[in-house]
Amino acid sequence: MKKTNIALIGFMGSGKTTIGRLLAKQTGKKLVDIDRLIVKRAGMPVRRIFEKQGEDGFRTLETKVTISVAKKSNQVISTGGGVVKRERNINALRKTGIVVYLKTSFNEIVDRIRMRDDRPLFDMDNIKGTKKLYTSRLPVYKAAADLTVVTDNKDAEHVCAAIIKGLNRRMDWKQ
Ligand code: S3P
Repeated sequence: MKKTNIALIGFMGSGKTTIGRLLAKQTGKKLVDIDRLIVKRAGMPVRRIFEKQGEDGFRTLETKVTISVAKKSNQVISTGGGVVKRERNINALRKTGIVVYLKTSFNEIVDRIRMRDDRPLFDMDNIKGTKKLYTSRLPVYKAAADLTVVTDNKDAEHVCAAIIKGLNRRMDWKQ
């Protein structure tokens, strides 16, 4: 069966939400943001979920939401950076969609999100630890992805064009 979803994966700050928005507009698909659905379901922001339920609690919610979203079709799915931590999530996303990895260098990520404090796992006071998390995630994103697009020094239009070009080359993709 052909796949009609595009699932964007990548580290925090790699542009999944921004690119997702534009990609949805350009493809006419519905934009679905997993983190937003988690927040809605929990009734509290991500940082608060981590404080109250720990990372495990957050991951459990993330898996429930991801599996239910992946059952639907014709969507651009913007995931949270840690969605790759559970194989079940990726298996579900790959069943109905093409998984696209937005690959961004650590320096560019820091530049983009250093002033934000809504990400419990991105700690400017422990930049070494954050870099370590980034490095450990790289091979996991790569393994999960059907398609990788490097985003450094590229604007959103450029990244979207590269994604669409990559998708159109695939036999298992349906616009
Ligand atoms: C996380 C990334 C965040 C959010 C949570 C955990 C991670 O999403 O899901 O803070 O483990 O990388 P973004 O990638 O949208 O920032």
